[in-house]
Amino acid sequence: MSVLEKLTSADAITLEDKYGAHNYHPLPVVLSKGKGVHVWDVEGKQYYDFLSAYSAVNQGHCHPKIVGAMMEQAQTLTLTSRAFYNDQLGPYEKYVTEYFGFDKVLPMNTGAEAVETAIKICRKWAYEKKGIEEHSAKIVVCENNFHGRTTTIISFSNDEDARKNFGPYTPGFIKIPYNDVEALEKVLKEEDNIAGFLVEPIQGEAGVFVPDEGYLAKTKALCEEHGVLFIADEVQTGIARTGKLLAVNHENVQPDILILGKAISGGAYPVSAVLANNHIMNVIKPGQHGSTFGGNPVAAVVAVAALDVIKDENLAENAETLGQLFRDKMNEYISGSTIVTLVRGKGLLNAIVINDTEDSSTAWDICVKLKENGLLAKPTHGNIIRFAPPLVMNKEQLLECVSIITNTIKAFEK
Ligand SMILES: Cc1ncc(COP(=O)(O)O)c(C=O)c1O
Repeated sequence: MSVLEKLTSADAITLEDKYGAHNYHPLPVVLSKGKGVHVWDVEGKQYYDFLSAYSAVNQGHCHPKIVGAMMEQAQTLTLTSRAFYNDQLGPYEKYVTEYFGFDKVLPMNTGAEAVETAIKICRKWAYEKKGIEEHSAKIVVCENNFHGRTTTIISFSNDEDARKNFGPYTPGFIKIPYNDVEALEKVLKEEDNIAGFLVEPIQGEAGVFVPDEGYLAKTKALCEEHGVLFIADEVQTGIARTGKLLAVNHENVQPDILILGKAISGGAYPVSAVLANNHIMNVIKPGQHGSTFGGNPVAAVVAVAALDVIKDENLAENAETLGQLFRDKMNEYISGSTIVTLVRGKGLLNAIVINDTEDSSTAWDICVKLKENGLLAKPTHGNIIRFAPPLVMNKEQLLECVSIITNTIKAFEK
């Protein structure tokens, strides 16, 4: 047995605190095992996971089909780099492009890398296909966006924690309010050189903001009208999370560029992907973009297994049904609550808003109590708590979780 296996939760937290950079503020729980909808801490206490690693573990922890595929490939061939072909990448590329209905995929590893990739493709397309003068392409983004943590991505964030003291920032982005069709229309009419519109179909990190019905279809139509690429960041909302395979499917929108990450591997391995049709993707030539690990054979087999599980186990349908039940039950509770003002979301991507000031600790305190009561969730942006369990949950488990949540919150009612 290694030294690490004998650690208590307190020991593990002390070690992370002393030797790790303080770039996160985790809930005080140390997990050592996961299976399906459950995780266990090092002392053996069981919890419902109501975050799913920010919607990466949609297929449930350690899904046997995904882990099995990963283990078999890990013993055969793990990495060749793209200096050579490997026998798993091509079949995966065929599978994933047919699965989502695009001509081509560009494989990467993390969500932020995939967003960076989409930005590069969009800019290059603008110069080479749309005829925009070099160095002057602009991409329209939304206020309160979250697309990752790289220097370019935080350049168009308006979260001061994410931005402050990381400048100078990358130019070429125009920010407009989210869920505002007219704002997009205005900017498309008034500004020159617009290449793309980058949007989250639901703003997850900002607090699960669901735009008005029609927003995605209308903004896509505007992009088409103005010859601008509609780029959907479905890193958090994609792969069945919101009750459809993609959140854009709720409005029958096919993006020009689709960005996927997180659950494309079921949380087993870092895998991300950018999908587009040939007239866009073919602007990328050898040497112009890449990553040593992107498209490695383990990632390829893991992604195929993870996407198979989504369809085999009808996880989109389950997310739709259980999500509706969750919001109905929470609304029943909220009608008599002073501490929770609303529940919102789609499928199993939901959040409740706590009736307290943005900077209060109430949401955090509730999450600490939820943890003590056997359910793990995390506040996102102050007084909002996100609820995103694995999609393999069943109705009985969901109802038990609703009881844990409502009983915990009751203790905070004034
Ligand atoms: C919408 C969206 N885009 C991009 C990212 C970045 O993904 P990663 O953390 O894998 O870089 C996230 C992460 O939460 C996200 O929610």
